[in-house]
Amino acid sequence: MGMKKITILILTGLFWGACSPEAIGQYGTIQLNQTNAEQVLEAMTLKEKVSLLTGEGLIGSSIGAAGATKKLSRQGIPSLELSDGPAGLRLRSTSTTWYPSASLLASTWDTSLISAVGKAMGAEALAHGADVILGPAMNIHRHPLCGRNYEYFSEDPLLTGIAASAMVRGIQENGTAACLKHFAANNQETNRDNNNVIADERTLREIYLRGFEIAVKESAPKTIMSSYNRINGTYTSEDSLLLTTILRDQWDFQGLVMSDWFGGRNAPAQIRAGNDLLEPGRNWQRRAILKAVRKGELAEETINTAAGRVLRLVLDSHAYRKQAQKDSPSGTGIQDSACQAGYRAIARDAAAEGMVLLENRNALPFNDSIRRIALFGVSSYRLVAGGFGSGEVYADHTVSPAEGLQEAGYLPDPQLRERYQSYTDSVNRAYKRKWKTITQRITGQGLPTETDPGAEAIARSAVENQVAIITIGRRTGEFTDRTIEGDYLLSEEEKALIGNVCKAFQAVGKPVVVVLNVGGIVETASWSGLPDALLLAWMPGQEGGRALADIVSGKKTPCGRLPVTIPAYLEDLASHKNFPLEGVPVKWLSMMGKKEKKTAAERLNIDYTRYEEGIFVGYRDVDSHRKEVAYHFGYGLSYTSFLYAKPDVRVEPERIVVQCVITNTGEKNGREVVQAYVSAPEGMGDKPYQELKGFAKTPLLGPGESCMAEIIIPMERLASYVPGTGWVVDAGDYTLRIGSSSRNMQQEIRLPGIPGLILPPGGRLP
Ligand code: BGC
Repeated sequence: MGMKKITILILTGLFWGACSPEAIGQYGTIQLNQTNAEQVLEAMTLKEKVSLLTGEGLIGSSIGAAGATKKLSRQGIPSLELSDGPAGLRLRSTSTTWYPSASLLASTWDTSLISAVGKAMGAEALAHGADVILGPAMNIHRHPLCGRNYEYFSEDPLLTGIAASAMVRGIQENGTAACLKHFAANNQETNRDNNNVIADERTLREIYLRGFEIAVKESAPKTIMSSYNRINGTYTSEDSLLLTTILRDQWDFQGLVMSDWFGGRNAPAQIRAGNDLLEPGRNWQRRAILKAVRKGELAEETINTAAGRVLRLVLDSHAYRKQAQKDSPSGTGIQDSACQAGYRAIARDAAAEGMVLLENRNALPFNDSIRRIALFGVSSYRLVAGGFGSGEVYADHTVSPAEGLQEAGYLPDPQLRERYQSYTDSVNRAYKRKWKTITQRITGQGLPTETDPGAEAIARSAVENQVAIITIGRRTGEFTDRTIEGDYLLSEEEKALIGNVCKAFQAVGKPVVVVLNVGGIVETASWSGLPDALLLAWMPGQEGGRALADIVSGKKTPCGRLPVTIPAYLEDLASHKNFPLEGVPVKWLSMMGKKEKKTAAERLNIDYTRYEEGIFVGYRDVDSHRKEVAYHFGYGLSYTSFLYAKPDVRVEPERIVVQCVITNTGEKNGREVVQAYVSAPEGMGDKPYQELKGFAKTPLLGPGESCMAEIIIPMERLASYVPGTGWVVDAGDYTLRIGSSSRNMQQEIRLPGIPGLILPPGGRLP
């Protein structure tokens, strides 16, 4: 830099009167500090500002994270490290803790626990030098076949929003930034970076934006990630209605918006819409933005606004704080074994709390005399800790059901272990040798297809063991939606395994437990009557095997409740009519030529997805249209039972307060999830039969113990969205139901004469 420019910069700085001598760095430029962001920005060249809006590139991270922001040494602006993701830090450089996936966390209905998981992730981020965690992911489970459902919480926006808020509060407690993603309506992987979601405004507001709205208002996330898809024709990252009008003007979001990786098409349009940071950042984007500014198509003021948001994030980052403390190295490096043991304990506790017991015919918990267990299914020996894609975590170990049970003092049948081990090893060897031809033998990237242990082995094991556990595994993930055959439906091998094992064991009076180690739900209605118990263990993170042992041994009473509906038939779901069913992986499409791709997209109806079902997603659909289901929303069994006393309900001008004494009437310790559903009067819109409006989880109650569960429902939660008007609480008589699930109500209370209310679109009650 020439002397002249330096002098000008110094003089300009002095003219602003904002830079103390210490604020002038070695290059003669003002160094960023907590009070001078505006001046630093004004002193930057346009190129520098634009570089702040585009990341360091795909391999720009120094810690092996997904991305990083640009470093500007002249102004003392450090690079921020952006690390996936929802189930733990994903760093190529080191191993970290693999926590349970979001669907399991939502099944806990326990906000303190979800915050504790977030807090542990935040601590790991600080220790490893990550500034932003790219999570929680919080799209709605619109359809069971979305490949990434495992990363998302629920089909219900309230549960989603509350769970995400808890996670954000935990992550951000020590100054790590959270990132809500993918904003919005990224509900399928098929053609996700091109797909156009066609949905009406009410549906978007009530279902697909509502969770984000709750999280933005209740937890102040520092960042949010726009999604890949389009909504009603516009890429979300280029949509100023979404990113500025709704997110900032109506919801008062104060943080930074980043794109999903390589998301969107038109960089200037993205910046103009309010997408401040483009990740991972490419040169052509920088060039396009500069060109647009020079041609007057993009105001420099808009660049300043976006760059200002980047600077605010920087000033509130670990990287900046460390730099301000001068000598401390990147990352605290403080990861002693006590910390790691603490993270493992949280991962295990959360995993056990979120497992959902679907069936139990006196099989669980195992009585004290049970020791010898026959373990069937490849996933019994090879846990599916989480899904693949950016939600995967590189943990240093995972604990399989076999390992967890053995550690808890059980004796897994050694011959079966040997058999499954050698099968898995041979598949792995073959996979490595000849990966191309062997791919059809591998389901969901890396999990061998089920194998038949043989009639003889099953018969022998039924004699030698006291119980059987069959683990059914699925490894689903990013880039591709799931298929019906061989994934949603159990394969012939799996069905035969369940049938044969149940027959052999039950013939000699020995129970069989089926464990579903899956990211998204599978069909159960046709076979759930066969085993004696059925446990949905989800993708439970690295400690899954230990958590499973905690549940089957009775050390923990199951208290997970379904955050989704499990339909009897997939076709029953209203969203099924408009979900791309051929599961075409995005990468196939991207490998096709333009013409070929267009034909395929048209043929498969994947250029757009009509959200024709409107707000009738999940239980809103099946409850309103009286459809039978396999397992309903909010359902889950316990080893104990609970009594709900007549609740005390107070209707105040701004909220409804429900207090209900819950008593453990069974013989085991346990926790109950108390759920509050509301039926609204017919008003300005078509109302679902009922909607979840609040919930509370009791503490652990011993036999005979009681507690007061309190649920507060702000009046605004009763509102429906009326396009052109805003959020409307219809005047009239409401019904409040309190129960242990959406179809097991314990108490019903009429709420007559609720006054009407109209709130502006982003509105809160005064
Ligand atoms: C995913 C995001 C993720 C990003 C960075 C994208 O493919 O959609 O969820 O955060 O990659 O890894």
